[in-house]
Amino acid sequence: MSTETHNRPAAGAEILTVTSLNKVYGSGPDGVEAIRDISFTLKAGEMVCIVGPSGAGKTTLLRSIAGLLPPTDGELVMEGSPITGPPKGMAVVFQEYARSLFPWLTVFKNVELPLKERGMPKAERAEKVNAALDAVGLSDVPHSYPWQLSGGMQQRVAIARAVAYEPHVLLMDEPFAAVDAQTRADLEDLVRELWSRLGMSLLFVTHDIDESIYLGQRVLVLSHRPTVILEDVIVDLPDERSQIVTRNDPRFAELRTHVHELVQKAKKGYRGEGVAPIYAEGGSAADSAAADSAAHGA
Ligand SMILES: Nc1ncnc2c1ncn2[C@@H]1O[C@H](COP(=O)(O)OP(=O)(O)OP(=O)(O)O)[C@@H](O)[C@H]1O
Ligand SMILES: [Mg+2]
Repeated sequence: MSTETHNRPAAGAEILTVTSLNKVYGSGPDGVEAIRDISFTLKAGEMVCIVGPSGAGKTTLLRSIAGLLPPTDGELVMEGSPITGPPKGMAVVFQEYARSLFPWLTVFKNVELPLKERGMPKAERAEKVNAALDAVGLSDVPHSYPWQLSGGMQQRVAIARAVAYEPHVLLMDEPFAAVDAQTRADLEDLVRELWSRLGMSLLFVTHDIDESIYLGQRVLVLSHRPTVILEDVIVDLPDERSQIVTRNDPRFAELRTHVHELVQKAKKGYRGEGVAPIYAEGGSAADSAAADSAAHGA
């Protein structure tokens, strides 16, 4: 039995809408405009990845959606309610697992904490925590402390904590950036498996273009700061993904090339067809010329 206070929307219904989001840090001449104008919709059960140059505003976007950062302008709505603080049906996994887990709590207690805060009875909590640890392959270390585990294991604890909460929407911000390649591939498959089994909606930020295509049904490619969406790329690969078959699919290579070219153009200031480029900080005249020719499709 779930303790959720509201039902998950039917698959395919809009679960999260971002409309004309703008975010400026600070104000006046020292203000930093991170997000210019972002609009998109996440549907129930959908997996959408976000890629873009470093400093584009990806974390700013995710923190705004998570209700941790007030937008300067625009509207964020989850399941029909405006987002004004962390929404009930949402969980977040950040890159820095070492900082997101409490070192003085065991693995079990780390995963249990948000359920406790939600007022879930003890027996139900234990059931959910054990199921989540089982799902991420950590059922043998519930009494260990995070610092006794490898990086990949710690990130699996963070994933278990998010999954045990049974979020309708899960946000992940470069969650695998700090683990080795093999662990990363395993964690990608784990996330795909949990996502398809639990029917949640996922918004996944990564700087790894291959990862975005391997995981996503759509990839939102962001421009350089102040960011806009350059393209909402549909990943028309079969739903069943595998590290070997999918990554060797010729369509995978085409999509990777397309997204890679867009990100390269974004780094040079390209902001979409017919839109004047804004040059990256420290960009040279050569960069500017390249951006200009990119903007004109040369
Ligand atoms: N608290 C803050 N105060 C002022 N500026 C900020 C703050 N946080 C981020 N910024 C600026 O906003 C812009 C976007 O930052 P953000 O962290 O969202 O980028 P990102 O796309 O997540 O980058 P990365 O790929 O490196 O993680 C950057 O120029 C950054 O310097
Ligand atoms: Mg970031």
